[in-house]
Amino acid sequence: MKLAKFTETQNQKFWNTYAKKLKENPRGAHSDRHIVDLEDNFIEFILKQKKPKTLLDIGCGNGSRTIRFAKYVKVETLGLDYSDIMIKHARKILKKQSKSIKRKVSFEVQDATILQKYDKFDIITSCRCFVNQTSAKKQIGLFKTIHSRLKNHGSLIIAEQSQEGLDNLNSIRKKFGLQKIRVPWHNLPIKELSVMPKINSMFKINKINRLGAFYFLSRVIHPAIVYPNEPNPSSIINDISEKAELLFQNEKDDVNCIEHYGSHLLIHFIKK
Ligand SMILES: C[S@@+](CC[C@H](N)C(=O)[O-])C[C@H]1O[C@@H](n2cnc3c(N)ncnc32)[C@H](O)[C@@H]1O
Repeated sequence: MKLAKFTETQNQKFWNTYAKKLKENPRGAHSDRHIVDLEDNFIEFILKQKKPKTLLDIGCGNGSRTIRFAKYVKVETLGLDYSDIMIKHARKILKKQSKSIKRKVSFEVQDATILQKYDKFDIITSCRCFVNQTSAKKQIGLFKTIHSRLKNHGSLIIAEQSQEGLDNLNSIRKKFGLQKIRVPWHNLPIKELSVMPKINSMFKINKINRLGAFYFLSRVIHPAIVYPNEPNPSSIINDISEKAELLFQNEKDDVNCIEHYGSHLLIHFIKK
């Protein structure tokens, strides 16, 4: 099958088609519910501490996660996505929420790379909006745009993918006789070695988590046990992998050995 080319137009088309089957799925756009739970845990831990007045969620998809984040936001939560079908579902989900949530949450169809018309926010979140940008240059451009829409010392929280983390994970999979995990055509994991130096002057990293324990257990040990069968993402082994990750997630700050194999990139940045 011929793969679509990774352009903005193809990407937007992909997410509009995806939105039709995703509908009002409470987990949002990721197929592995464990990863969504772990990302939410990381983000909500920071929101509980920060108690922001305003939050912007870029690439919000069907908005189910935006609405979960809104519980910790005092005044206004805005979700933006350039897929009009995602936003249609987000508005449907919002209609079913309590009055207090409806009062403070809204959704708009908007390209997240163009944010000049909005006021500044206390917190901006991105759950895999960066990996949907078609080049490292555009990812850096998105960091700059976000920086301009954050209040002084505001927070940017990202839940994205790291190219270096994925390379490390694939190298250890090889040692277990497992094939490389391939990146879908519509994704570009962040190349930390080239992107991070370009954003150093804008943001300092407050906390970073790669979900290493989860990836090591669910993407190396689990597939190695069931080989040559495909691992089932709903297996009890992945439930246990999630629990193992949670043991570490809110405690550790140092990069430890297992953390090295996580291809995820959860970062809490503070605007400089
Ligand atoms: C992987 S999905 C994640 C959706 C949601 N954050 C979640 O976790 O369920 C990425 C979303 O980003 C949106 N997106 C990608 N690039 C965008 C852009 N430049 N502006 C607005 N939305 C964008 C896509 O339409 C898609 O809904």
